[in-house]
Amino acid sequence: MAQEHHQQLPSTLSPSTLAIHADDYLNTSTDVAPALHVSTTFRYTNDLNALQPPNFDTPIAEILSLTNPTHVYSRLSAPNTTRLESILSALLHGRVLTYSSGLAAFHALLVYLRPNVIAVSDGYHGCHGVIGLLTKLYGLKKIPLDDDGAWDAANLGKGDVVHIETPLNPTGEAVDLKKWVKKAKERGAWVTVDATFAPPPLQDPLALGADVVMHSGTKYIGGHSDMLCGVLVTKHEDVWHGLFAERVFLGSVMGSLEGWLGVRSVRTLEVRITSQGRNATRIVGWLNAAFKGEDGASEEVRRVVGGSVLKIQHASLQAKEENWVDEQMPGGYGPVFALILQDKEMARRLPSKLALFHHATSLGGVESLIEWRRMSDSTVDERVLRVSVGLENWEDLKQDLFTGLKAVLEDVKPEKLSVEGLSV
Ligand SMILES: Cc1ncc(COP(=O)(O)O)c(C=O)c1O
Repeated sequence: MAQEHHQQLPSTLSPSTLAIHADDYLNTSTDVAPALHVSTTFRYTNDLNALQPPNFDTPIAEILSLTNPTHVYSRLSAPNTTRLESILSALLHGRVLTYSSGLAAFHALLVYLRPNVIAVSDGYHGCHGVIGLLTKLYGLKKIPLDDDGAWDAANLGKGDVVHIETPLNPTGEAVDLKKWVKKAKERGAWVTVDATFAPPPLQDPLALGADVVMHSGTKYIGGHSDMLCGVLVTKHEDVWHGLFAERVFLGSVMGSLEGWLGVRSVRTLEVRITSQGRNATRIVGWLNAAFKGEDGASEEVRRVVGGSVLKIQHASLQAKEENWVDEQMPGGYGPVFALILQDKEMARRLPSKLALFHHATSLGGVESLIEWRRMSDSTVDERVLRVSVGLENWEDLKQDLFTGLKAVLEDVKPEKLSVEGLSV
């Protein structure tokens, strides 16, 4: 087996190149596709001169560094996940650690930062579940993001956390990160960002001042609905070291198969996310034009969309009103949007009328999904559908949605509708 040793590549290379080559320096065999290493434990050296106990005062991450990985036991580090971390570090512009799921990553982050107070908006309900666990364990206080009075009353300050999810689940709408970074920094608080819905090249929260960014890598980084993964990335060396050391004891590392799948997936992240985002933006544009009765939409399409849709939410629609959206999402908008229908029964029925969208939770895969959101989030309005657009041809998806909306409109006659105020 030939040994190849490469240097780490310059970070000035473009992300699409780094996604394919940032891990070349880790190659130890002639395989082009990386080998899957299943071992949980790794032999120490037989060279008696080199066989010395580590200096246990040295931060563990220095012993097991990405540049010179010496694997000992796979709860500490392992070849496939290290490879994934090396590529993600190049793409996310900081130092990366991977975890067994997005929520495991968020949990690890809060365990490390151990804030007294966390300011957070609505968004993915699972993150609120993690906060709830820490409230139970040590009394972490959760306050609303958009409430200055609550920030004052809780004395939010140094060591506390302002957590921003952007774009938001389930609406796909962006949050003005610059505004929240400024407010948080004035008080010395950490800014953590859940950027799951818009991985690079769509946005770069670290460049906008975030301290630590998390992703549910289960979504776009995985991209094929077949692996769980969590990601944390930071430019703060001390934070990365601390997180690494604590992950050893949390034990929430990715499995080696998932690490291997992650490398396979992340090679195509840029083409997937940009095409899926473009597809979503086109579908939203088409729906919105029909909804607004604008020229270009046929009378039939206007009748069907106008008769069934109550509201459409997506960052592309926000960008028409607010300049900061394009500034903060220079790579385009994400592939998720919310479609709110005029009636709960319409929303419940639409997924079953579609041929090209699976009715399932989650998002980020190459296949389009739609979810009647009430199936997994009890706090959401019953008329909300979350749409995760995949890599199919967008006109095929558009036609499928049109056919489905027409069918629900026939099933649920407009005269039976009671259009109440919308709370999302
Ligand atoms: C915005 C967001 N953050 C975090 C998570 C949790 O990720 P995971 O399911 O990988 O734990 C999800 C999952 O849907 C999500 O949508």
